[in-house]
Amino acid sequence: MGRVRAYVVVAPGLETLAADELRSIGVTGKVSVTRGGIEADMTTRQMYAVHRWARISTRVLVRVAAGPARTFDELEALVASIGWDDYLAADDPVAVHAASQASRLYHEGAIAERVLGVLGRTADTEGSRVYLRLDRNRATISVDASGASLHHRGWRQAGHAAPLRPTIAAAMLRAVGSDCTTPVVDPMTGSGTIAIEAALIAAGRPHERAFAFQRWPSFEPGTWASVSAPVVARATVPAPIVAADRDAGAVETARGNVVAAGVDGLVTVDRSALNGQRWPVEPSLVVCNPPYGRRLGHREGLRDLYAALGRRIADGGHTLGLLTADDRLARATGLELTERFATTNGGIAVRCWST
Ligand SMILES: C[S@@+](CC[C@H](N)C(=O)[O-])C[C@H]1O[C@@H](n2cnc3c(N)ncnc32)[C@H](O)[C@@H]1O
Repeated sequence: MGRVRAYVVVAPGLETLAADELRSIGVTGKVSVTRGGIEADMTTRQMYAVHRWARISTRVLVRVAAGPARTFDELEALVASIGWDDYLAADDPVAVHAASQASRLYHEGAIAERVLGVLGRTADTEGSRVYLRLDRNRATISVDASGASLHHRGWRQAGHAAPLRPTIAAAMLRAVGSDCTTPVVDPMTGSGTIAIEAALIAAGRPHERAFAFQRWPSFEPGTWASVSAPVVARATVPAPIVAADRDAGAVETARGNVVAAGVDGLVTVDRSALNGQRWPVEPSLVVCNPPYGRRLGHREGLRDLYAALGRRIADGGHTLGLLTADDRLARATGLELTERFATTNGGIAVRCWST
């Protein structure tokens, strides 16, 4: 395929960090940030590398056509002009996701049916995903290269009540400048997401799961194999990564996840409350997602917890990365904080702060 025009879907708020990450993975073409995504020109090899290494992005769509579509005839001609044999194997079922705004063709079900008619495919929600967006009578058609969302890392076990999205954990680590040589502490680890992300990054471990583009007839196994070597800096001897939680169930879940992610040699998981935890003596990155009083705990009782966290950071000369839904609790740390990004986690608006 040579080059692809990609739209990389990113959770709103993480776009700039995700764009930096794409560049660090080797995307050298034009990268433009929009709300909720990034337009990027890539070689096929770069698109494969993004799937191996991107930790902040959610999904990659490959743009296959764009053009006017004021009538069904025009739409069908545009769909027919695409070289589908690159993306769909014979008889592959297809799921067409149509969206229309401010356009003459507005019936999204009818639009999807026309696309399927041109493709001669049956509809199946589990099939290859084709996205058709009509905006002011102009259609953009894309094929999903990723399959399941990229935040599915494949290690999460059931158990913890309020897990953080790994994509947000990766964004926090990038925002605080995690470099794999400074120890990382997640003192309220829950299911272990932040510590596991830090370990996978430090170990230079690529995503091992399957992606939709591997089923495309145009898939290049040799090119795919060539992006398995780390393209991002990693530590020869990763610094310690310490995870802790006061809750026995959380610790059990975190330990199971650490083993499932294959990073049990890199992460220690201790059951202890914040004040009794043993952190590395050298200045560390303390990256955490404490309770913020909506789903877990109650806000009033949390001020002391945030204040205690702030004291430990200041006393040890550590750097803090903090994700919380409550600015007042962030201020209760008593630390001078800078906002790094604002996004949502599990439908709740949250901000990442750092010292
Ligand atoms: C929002 S959850 C963290 C979720 C986590 N980032 C994940 O991905 O699963 C907050 C965690 O803080 C823990 N916690 C609350 N108070 C604590 C304390 N004083 N010391 C240690 N852990 C505490 C809770 O047990 C809970 O697991």
